[in-house]
Parts: sequence; C-alpha cells; structure tokens
Amino acid sequence: MPNLVAVIMAAGKGTRMKSKLPKVMHSLAGKPLIEHVLDTVNQVGIERPLVIVGHGREVVEARINARAQIVGQIEQLGTGHAVMQVLPYLEDSQTILVLSGDQPLLKPETLRALIELHQAQEVSATVLTAYMDQPFGYGRIIENGENLFKIIEEKDATNDERKIKKINTGTYCFKGSALKEALAKISNQNTQGEYYLTEVFDILLKQGEKMLTYCTADNYEALGINSRGQLAEAEAIFRERILEHWMAEGVTLVDPASTFIDAEVKLAIDVTILPFTRLIGKTQIEEDAVIGPQTSLENCTVGRGSEVTYTVAKDAVIGERCHIGPFTYLRPGTKLEAEVKVGDFVEIKNSWIEMGSKVPHLSYIGDAHIGKSTNIGAGTITCNYDGVNKHHTEIGNHAFIGSNTNLVAPVEVGDYAVTGAGSTITKNVPAEALAVERSTQVIKEHWRLSRKGEIGG
Ligand code: UD1
Ligand code: MG
Repeated sequence: MPNLVAVIMAAGKGTRMKSKLPKVMHSLAGKPLIEHVLDTVNQVGIERPLVIVGHGREVVEARINARAQIVGQIEQLGTGHAVMQVLPYLEDSQTILVLSGDQPLLKPETLRALIELHQAQEVSATVLTAYMDQPFGYGRIIENGENLFKIIEEKDATNDERKIKKINTGTYCFKGSALKEALAKISNQNTQGEYYLTEVFDILLKQGEKMLTYCTADNYEALGINSRGQLAEAEAIFRERILEHWMAEGVTLVDPASTFIDAEVKLAIDVTILPFTRLIGKTQIEEDAVIGPQTSLENCTVGRGSEVTYTVAKDAVIGERCHIGPFTYLRPGTKLEAEVKVGDFVEIKNSWIEMGSKVPHLSYIGDAHIGKSTNIGAGTITCNYDGVNKHHTEIGNHAFIGSNTNLVAPVEVGDYAVTGAGSTITKNVPAEALAVERSTQVIKEHWRLSRKGEIGG
C-alpha cells in the first residue's frame, strides 16, 4: 500500500494483568501479543513498523528487534504521548496507521479496508470502530451523520454516553500532517491525567477537518487485552479461527473442543488429530499422520503416515511411518528416522535412531546413536550420566539388546552384536559378538521339599 507507515503502541505496563511480564509479551496461541500485531501489519505490506516500547522495554525489544524499528517512551503518559515519540520519524504526506500492541485479533483484510477508505476519501483521520454488547472500558464513538464527531473515554463519559455501543477499537489512519499538528495541541486535562490520542479528534474537528469511521462486522477484532480474563477470551476466539482454518485445509479434527493448535503450527492435508491433543510452537505434521489422543508435541516434526499416540514430545524429529506411544516421552534432540517404533514407557533424549529400529517398552535412551533395524529389549537403560558428565552410547545396525541391559556409557555395541538379558555392559561389544554379564544360574534339585513346613503355599 502506498506511502504508508505503521505505528504500534506497546509501552504500557498493563497494570490490570498484574504480571511481571509486559502486557504485549503475554502469549496467545503460543506467540506474544505484539507478534500477532506485527504479523497482521506485515500482511498489509508494511515491513518494519515503528513500535513504541517502555515498560519492560528490554524484553519486548529483544523479541522483536529484527522486525521493527524500536522507539522508547520513557514515561507512559498516555496513548497521545506515546505517538508523540515517533513524530520525528513521520512525514506530512504519509498515511499513518496507528495500532495497539494489545489487539491481537485484528485481521489484515480489515486493516486494508480501513486504509483504502481513508486514502480514497482523502480525510484527515479514520477510526476503526465496532459494536460491542458490553462496551465497558472502551472509548465511545459519537458521530454526526457519517462524520466522526468525538471519541469519549469510558472514564470521562456521562451515563448517557456510556450507553453507546459503538466503540473505538484503538486502530486509526491519519494524514501525517494532521496528526503532527493536532498532537502538538493535546493536553492531559481529563479524568486520568493522561495525554489521550483520542483528543486529536476533538482538535481536528475544531479545525473543521473531515474524519470518518470504518466499522468492522467482526467485533472480536476490537478485543483489547487489558486483563487475564480478556486474554483467555481472545485465546478462545483465536483458537477457533485456527481450528476452522485447518479443517478448511483438509485436516480432520475429531474433537475440536479438546484440540489446541498454536498459531505457528503447520499441518498437511489428511492429517488426523484425535481428542485431547496440543500442538505447540513450531510443530509441523506431514500428510496422513495420526496424532493423539492425549498427545502434546512442542516444536516437533512428524513425518508422513506416522502414528503418535498418548505421547509427550519436545524438540523432537519423528520420521515417516513411525509408531510412537502409547505413553512415550521424547525429549529435545531426539531424531527418529523412518519406520522407527518407540513404545510404552520409553524416554528418549538427545539420541538418533535410524530406520526400522525398535525401542518397544520400558527403556531410557539418552545421548545415544542406534543404527538401522536394531532391537532394544524391554527395560534397557543407557547409563549416560556418571554424576559429573554425560557419555555417549553407540549401537550399530541389526544389533539385539537383550531385555534389562544396562549400557554403561561411554560404550559401543557393534553391528549384529547381541547382549544377554540382564547384562550390565561396561566394555565395548565387537560386531556379531554375544556379550553376557551375569552370574551362572544355580539349580538346587528338590530344594523346596527339604523346606517342607517352613514356607507357606
Ligand atoms: C484505548 C483508547 C480507547 C479504545 C481502546 C481500545 C485512548 C485514550 N483510549 O484505551 O478509546 O477504546 O484503547 O482498546 O487511547 N500505551 C503506550 N503508552 C502509554 C499508554 C498506552 O504505549 O503511555 C499503549 C499500551 O501499551 C497499549 C495501547 O497503547 O498497547 C493502548 O493503551 P491502553 O492503556 O490499553 O488503552 P485503553 O485504556 O485500552
Ligand atoms: Mg487497551
């Protein structure tokens, strides 16, 4: 869009959140509020918006530095004062799109419509408005015909004005010159003692400037996050948008009500998500995979046609046609190639398991590499930690690790090697060898009879 800059106000503390974290860093669908607004602004073609930061500046700045131009507001004296901080960066001829960092549900198509109306009508200012059944807390819109007349803040409104349901969403377009002139004249003579950006409209009106409103039909877009309750409300609305999006893209959600998918998750067609499943962060699932029930995957990749059931996984890569679960825990650094099976009560950490290998039950595999087509018997443990350092276990292709083997790392088991059940392996096992480490079984014939009467049963 031509000659357009965006200004995002994100300096406020968010007192009503009662949090250590700046308000705009609170997470919605796995992404901070401010990043939702940045994404929306990017989608209307604005690459590097100006972001006004203040409260918790370091945290916000560290997160968005790469994609925004940061401007500080040392004292938070109100939304008008916030925009004053960026005036040196604005030109008279530009259209200035002003948004709040606490409004994550705004849609790019709405912003586009607002900007188009503003630019086509060549007005000084245009306000994005919405109708709210519960308008409490929002600035109310007073109009004169189709022209904007006044925005009155909740705390400054009369009882009659408070009944107005048309509200200021806090998103605006201004002509650069008009914004600069009017901002120079605003005062803090109001109930809150703040410099209101909304006073700009009073000043422009007095100057006889023409101003418009653009009303969105989706009033959720106006939802500003000021409290934890509003954050939860926004989460529910956004979640529903995500679920609808993925169903429209060919994903089966057996029970949307118990399915939670973060904003940055990517799903291919014909993925099936079973109930009580959470897909978190940058998780990506390929075609025909079946995930759940009761599964939580964070920043994981799941290959085509894999099944992952009753599993908790984080920072793990699962290849194609794998069978994971039930009751599997995959920790960061797990990399499973195609057709790997990981079964019940198995924990894997920082390990690479190659094609077709199986860890079917009751094992801990940490800091290990397992080759192709190897079978790990039930109860196998890689003893990777000596109390000071972590050590590596190397297992070759086609090996057979007997049940209840302890592999005391650092240790290697060669290709086609076998370990006897119950062995504690402390020395390397050569390829094709059998390693057994246990005492010889003793048999005492008729022993039970000699103890007749002493033992019950
Ligand atoms: C503001 C509007 C209100 C509108 C509502 C929509 C004003 C005076 N009122 O009220 O008409 O209905 O948004 O949600 O503008 N901020 C700063 N610096 C400051 C103060 C605020 O950067 O000194 C930022 C906040 O971080 C926030 C945004 O501006 O992202 C809005 O501030 P907030 O305090 O939430 O304003 P509201 O009371 O919601
Ligand atoms: Mg607000």
